[in-house]
Amino acid sequence: MAVRRLHHQQPASFAFTPENLEWAQMVIARYPEGRQASAVIPLMWRAQEQEGWVSEPCIRVIAEMLEMPNIRVLEVATFYTMFQLAPVGRKAHIQVCGTTPCQLRGAEDLIEICKRRIHHDAFHVSADGDFSWEEVECLGACVNAPMVQVVKDTWEDLTPETFEALLDGFAKGNPPPPGPQNGRTFSMPEGGATSLTDIAAILRGTTHDARPAAGDEQAPTSAARPKETRPEQQVADSPGARAVEGKTPLKPADVAAAEPKLPDTTPAPALAAGTSDGKDPAGMDPAGNAPAGKSPAGANG
Ligand code: FES
Repeated sequence: MAVRRLHHQQPASFAFTPENLEWAQMVIARYPEGRQASAVIPLMWRAQEQEGWVSEPCIRVIAEMLEMPNIRVLEVATFYTMFQLAPVGRKAHIQVCGTTPCQLRGAEDLIEICKRRIHHDAFHVSADGDFSWEEVECLGACVNAPMVQVVKDTWEDLTPETFEALLDGFAKGNPPPPGPQNGRTFSMPEGGATSLTDIAAILRGTTHDARPAAGDEQAPTSAARPKETRPEQQVADSPGARAVEGKTPLKPADVAAAEPKLPDTTPAPALAAGTSDGKDPAGMDPAGNAPAGKSPAGANG
């Protein structure tokens, strides 16, 4: 991108019209105290709509209104390419999209027309002062390529013929309505819709009525049924199995009652180092008393 500098010729002063000044003060009031600088872009855009471009006096006026250093406003003006830093055509500044989709669809032909009818070089005003042009990057209407923009409006689906007609319209002060110039609506298919043509179905929210007619309802296929019943389900008589068989679901209490009682395999408590009958291998009784005539192990030293 070329270096963006202020134009070498500048007007002596700038002032918003009373209407635009009132609008600017309304915009500034939207921001909290101390945050008025946030209004710099809308104010500068409004100034460009009024004058066609952003001049150095304009930058100073806006900086003063927003209590900003001049350099901060200048930074914004030179950063964003939507701000014109030099005088443009009185009737139209044509921005031709030259990015790939538009280029493949004929943007170069449109640029050749700009060079022939306006000026050989971009950013130069035509001899009568009415037009200027520039090549810009994608403007977001690629599906309707090629296209041009003038201020906020776009003209799309252009051909050399319709673009020449557009320039003629601006020259007479009566340009054609913005949008596609080949008759299509927005970005619909050229020649009309090829799908979703059943308006009644669209309004119903579906392109075909998939619901079965009354009386045509079919039972769920066997694919929805479990392939086999696990052993534990056979015991517990699971809700899923009962549902498949058309039986009433069991209550949790019934399920618990139906569960088989398994034998208690918990080992019986035994005394430490003792036997299951409670007798010590050394012959001591459950109270730990040695049989008559015997001493506890180790008691003899
Ligand atoms: S490429 Fe031209 S509008 Fe996107």
